[in-house]
Amino acid sequence: MSNNSLVQNALNWRYAVKKFDAHRKISAADWTTLKESLRLSPSSYGLQPWKFIVVENNDLRKQLKEVSWNQSQVTDCSHYVVLTYREKVDAEFIQTNMAKIAQVRGVNLDELKGFEKAITGDLIHGPRAKVIETWAQRQVYIAMGFLLETAALLGIDSTPMEGLDPAAYDTLLGLNNSGWKTVAAVALGYRHAEDPFQNNKKVRFDEAEIFEVK
Ligand SMILES: Cc1cc2nc3c(=O)[nH]c(=O)nc-3n(C[C@H](O)[C@H](O)[C@H](O)COP(=O)(O)O)c2cc1C
Repeated sequence: MSNNSLVQNALNWRYAVKKFDAHRKISAADWTTLKESLRLSPSSYGLQPWKFIVVENNDLRKQLKEVSWNQSQVTDCSHYVVLTYREKVDAEFIQTNMAKIAQVRGVNLDELKGFEKAITGDLIHGPRAKVIETWAQRQVYIAMGFLLETAALLGIDSTPMEGLDPAAYDTLLGLNNSGWKTVAAVALGYRHAEDPFQNNKKVRFDEAEIFEVK
């Protein structure tokens, strides 16, 4: 199969699962790749303003389900990942990131001063400072996209989930005053044979409606 067919088949095969097979679990090897898809996601300036909380505890999952419109995916999926974003993007966080670049790439911190100033000028002193939480959330959604596509390529099912109460999640996950806030979640695992949604045709705009060539 060509790479194009492989990817397009996976994209068409993927759908937002409504009912998972609660008995099937993702293998350790696949889970490692899924985690890498999150870790290696791109982000603005490479700042990675995210933390991914993997909820294994069944009691906690039950409580989260109650504040997720009672969606069964929360408790029935194999792996449930809550996507959180960094509430505060400050000078210290940016400096920590510069130190990491210097360490990983073996460069002098002084060489990164211009880069650091540009980031600070944009995110802390520039117009983006006013929408910094939205900016951070946007980065998290890129990671979500990487996770969903990687899962599909591995033949693993998923549900992106915004149908939840972020404030209630923060409380249940002990995130209040932690600097991290819930924005969404992704349920991962295997579709139930009786999930009728897997037979639905994809509803998408036609190519001509959403692409423009200038
Ligand atoms: C950010 C986001 C949040 C979503 N939240 C939910 C959700 O809470 N529950 C659910 O069943 N589906 C959820 N969906 C799935 C969408 O309804 C679904 O992706 C869309 O209808 C297209 O269908 P398909 O993904 O099956 O092709 C969400 C999708 C996205 C991208």
